[in-house]
Amino acid sequence: MAENTRDMTVLVTGATGRTGSRVAAAARAAGLRVRAASRATGFDWEDASTWTGALRGADAAYLAHPTDVGSPDATKAVGALAREAVGLGVRRLVLLSARGEDQARPTEEAFRTSGADWTIVRASWFSQNFSEGPLVEGLRRGELVFPAGEVREPFIDARDIADVVVAVLTGGDRYTGRELEITGPRLLTFREAVAEIARAGGGELVYTPVTAREYGDALTGFGVPAAEAGFLVGVFGTLLDGRNSRLSDGVREILGRAPRDFAEFAREAAADGAWKA
Ligand SMILES: NC(=O)c1ccc[n+]([C@@H]2O[C@H](COP(=O)([O-])OP(=O)(O)OC[C@H]3O[C@@H](n4cnc5c(N)ncnc54)[C@H](OP(=O)(O)O)[C@@H]3O)[C@@H](O)[C@H]2O)c1
Repeated sequence: MAENTRDMTVLVTGATGRTGSRVAAAARAAGLRVRAASRATGFDWEDASTWTGALRGADAAYLAHPTDVGSPDATKAVGALAREAVGLGVRRLVLLSARGEDQARPTEEAFRTSGADWTIVRASWFSQNFSEGPLVEGLRRGELVFPAGEVREPFIDARDIADVVVAVLTGGDRYTGRELEITGPRLLTFREAVAEIARAGGGELVYTPVTAREYGDALTGFGVPAAEAGFLVGVFGTLLDGRNSRLSDGVREILGRAPRDFAEFAREAAADGAWKA
């Protein structure tokens, strides 16, 4: 580890989530001191009075907002928290963003103009969306219903995101002021991803593509407020219109190795019982 990171304390937001839990683990493995933050530890993105205590005395922070990074809530909170962090001397900040998401640009801009030594990590769809989070329930019942048609996406393993974040945190000024695009190594349709999961032991599974409107109606049927459902459908429409059907070489550039393949993720998650009913 570089000399200047030996005593580094990093605040990790979303520390119980898909990326934050792995960022915390990778940072600890790299010898950093980790301050894990989520509502479970008293840190609340919606309550600015909880931010100072979480930030004070840290050297760096990983910011993963719990709602979509392009949501107005994320824009407001990420900008405000980043400015507070800089004011408290927590200058090295890494923001998790999404590749190809036009809606995320205001949040990125609020982050960039905070005065921090900033780095934005723009990730493709996580492989772990299939094993942790809203898609799991359907897969456990044998069906993924999603408005992704037959578009191809280079799913990225959240562990690779975590390794990239730690490389940024420990990389001195190397990645300051940069937007890093990272993806997995292979383009897959959602149908092919579901087939990989079935092959890995996830059971008999089908993929049923639906229109954005049908998906939005299903979300509101599950109780998601209409405005939020409309926003999410808009984001999915942007992310899945074909613009992201290409690989980026960020993981290899930053880590000097290939990203983990979706098949490896599927095998490990199936062995962990991710899709057991
Ligand atoms: N999914 C994708 O493919 C993808 C791709 C690119 C970017 N992103 C971005 O990733 C971000 C989400 O990151 P993630 O998927 O790693 O998180 P996640 O798995 O959705 O977990 C959310 C985390 O935030 C915490 N949390 C929830 N509400 C909170 C609150 N009000 N205050 C403080 N903490 C709260 C949760 O813990 P507690 O319940 O304990 O609070 C949990 O640790 C979003 O901004 C999204 O746009 C996602």
